[in-house]
Amino acid sequence: MASADYTIRGPIAVITLDNPPVNALGLAVRQGVADALERAEADASVSAVVLTGAGATFCGGADESEFGLPAMIASPHLTDLCDLVEGFPKPVIAALNGLALGGGLELAMCCHYRVALATAQVGLPEVKLGILPGAGGTQRLPRLAGPERALNMIVSGTPVAARELANTALFDHVVDADAVPAAVEYARRAVPEKLPLKKARDLEVHFPNAEAFFDFARGAIAPLAKNYPAPGKCIDAVEAAVSRPFDDGMKFERAAFTELLNSPESKALRHVFFAIRAASKIPGMPSGGPQRPVGSVAVIGAGTMGGGIAMNFANAGVPVTVLETSQAALDKGLGVVRKNYEGTLKKGRLSQKDFDHRLGLIKGTLSYDDIARADLVIEAVFEDMQVKKQVFEILDAKVKPGAILASNTSTLDLDKIAGCTHRPGDVVGLHFFSPANVTKLLEIVRGNKTADDVLATSLAIAKQIKKIGVVAGVCDGFIGNRMLNSYFRQMDFLLDEGALPLEIDRALETFGFAMGPFRVADLAGNDIGWAIRKRLHVEYPDRPFSRIPDRICELGRFGQKTGAGWYDYKPGERNALPSEVVTKIILEESSRLGLARRKIGAQEIVERALYALVNEGAQILEEGIAQRASDIDVVYIAGYGFPDFRGGPMFYADSVGLPNILRAMRSFARGYQPDAWRPAPLLAKLAAENGSFAGWRKQS
Ligand SMILES: NC(=O)c1ccc[n+]([C@@H]2O[C@H](COP(=O)([O-])OP(=O)(O)OC[C@H]3O[C@@H](n4cnc5c(N)ncnc54)[C@H](O)[C@@H]3O)[C@@H](O)[C@H]2O)c1
Repeated sequence: MASADYTIRGPIAVITLDNPPVNALGLAVRQGVADALERAEADASVSAVVLTGAGATFCGGADESEFGLPAMIASPHLTDLCDLVEGFPKPVIAALNGLALGGGLELAMCCHYRVALATAQVGLPEVKLGILPGAGGTQRLPRLAGPERALNMIVSGTPVAARELANTALFDHVVDADAVPAAVEYARRAVPEKLPLKKARDLEVHFPNAEAFFDFARGAIAPLAKNYPAPGKCIDAVEAAVSRPFDDGMKFERAAFTELLNSPESKALRHVFFAIRAASKIPGMPSGGPQRPVGSVAVIGAGTMGGGIAMNFANAGVPVTVLETSQAALDKGLGVVRKNYEGTLKKGRLSQKDFDHRLGLIKGTLSYDDIARADLVIEAVFEDMQVKKQVFEILDAKVKPGAILASNTSTLDLDKIAGCTHRPGDVVGLHFFSPANVTKLLEIVRGNKTADDVLATSLAIAKQIKKIGVVAGVCDGFIGNRMLNSYFRQMDFLLDEGALPLEIDRALETFGFAMGPFRVADLAGNDIGWAIRKRLHVEYPDRPFSRIPDRICELGRFGQKTGAGWYDYKPGERNALPSEVVTKIILEESSRLGLARRKIGAQEIVERALYALVNEGAQILEEGIAQRASDIDVVYIAGYGFPDFRGGPMFYADSVGLPNILRAMRSFARGYQPDAWRPAPLLAKLAAENGSFAGWRKQS
């Protein structure tokens, strides 16, 4: 149970934060520390206190499970504890054996002395949630570590090893072994040597070049400042630490903290943080259930995706065998992998040793005999059911029983693929996104018969290879690409009616997308969408599509890889230049359709793009393809460049208000292609009830 443990070592009281896994500062721990301090103060035989954390962590900060609950603000609050420790009448020495983050580091900074293991990571990551440290972190760290270091840590949120701060006042002693005995030793000396009760608040900061430094810092974050208010406030708070008395600085910090906490950006970023946590949980399946061991992996196909997929496992230290149909295809694919690693090596982001090790873990083969013992096989061959069927029949015959057989298909029916084997329970979709070694998202497609332990293992694999796994059900395009199809269809209708690619891309990039739809399409390759549309034209003959994207593809304008797509490209350059050829096609299509082109403003573009996503998302949610609305948000943020400060399409919809969205959709439905605006029943129902996607649960 969460608590703070109290033990006596001679004249020293040792208080240990104990709340696995990271000794978070939940109410029980805060109360435990306050009680233990009271006890230590009352005990005349105690001359000093050591404050530490159980296991290899000091304290990971606030307790996430209390977010939004009364316990979070219940007394004693973290700031009360900080005051209690700093004002304690006997010396308090922090012993850091590992991670001290956020509130954990803030508490440590209130101790009179700090002893740390050299490898202990310390940091103030609050900025990543759109806030700033709110318990004195912005005022004490500049006093202890110096304003420049403090500013870097607070604005980036990135933790630093204690070793790197050994020469600052943040640490009195950095050790290479257990910090607790070293801190106890320190504490024993404190009284006889009359060591003062040092308080960070009393330290003066000398910083002659303050003005120039803060100007420079503001310049550096300026490009992001519009969408992310927290880094700017962090700079202001550190400046306050340098220029104002401590108590004034604390007031500034508190006001800035409250302002940021209520900002839409922070609400969105906090939503994303919890959404990512929630994505790894499967309703009805307890965590800690059985999993299958994955010590070796095989990848079938060394094309665009196969090579990148293999790199993920090599990066995680897992041996991978890549299988191809010809030596030439294998050499080509593995050549790309080598080139990728060489690039990272040249940039200095990979050591020669790691380069050799990772490349050494990837082997090529043309024979299924070499992959028969693999624990996990990921198929990444052409997106063609016949080819996939052949591959899965061979896998079924050749690969050992119990191995997980995964497909990287983007759109095909996973249940049909699983049906090509005699072990459909072992089959799952592991849908990586291009570039597969970079993009964070992994859609885990759960087939009708996918076994629970296969699903649980897939989520664990996602973590192991540092991806964000989101579970999706079987349908055309799963979560991400199904929504993307509706989005692109709507964007193409905008072209029919009056907009140009650049106007649409600009509007959505201003909204915060990393790239607008047409720049994305040119990067990914327009042929991919073309192939999908050709299939959709056959499967859904009544569904209208604009002809413009097909006409662009008929000219071979597949995007950057062919030097032309929605935009023109100069040889070797990625700069998207408006294309006269494309504009001519667009105008011709409008006139063929008898549409009088009209000027379409940025707001309408953004609303039509977002609401097309949201409407399809609502459908996906109601069908149970996504487990929860926040999973859809994670898919869009981790895989499709959706701005995290907007929280994802479904969070955004809730914040706009579902009745407002329905109203806008009804008004669009009075215009061009009204059928595209038929509201998903769930959206209509929630809008009528003034409900939200976040609050909705599918009844099973
Ligand atoms: N390219 C993307 O952006 C992307 C994104 C997500 C998922 N996917 C999916 O990943 C899969 C692969 O796509 P890609 O873009 O890497 O294709 P690709 O054409 O670049 O590569 C496919 C590779 O598979 C090999 N191959 C074909 N048949 C084979 C067989 N029977 N045995 C072994 N190897 C065989 C080919 O030689 C080729 O090297 C598809 O299902 C696709 O839908 C692609």
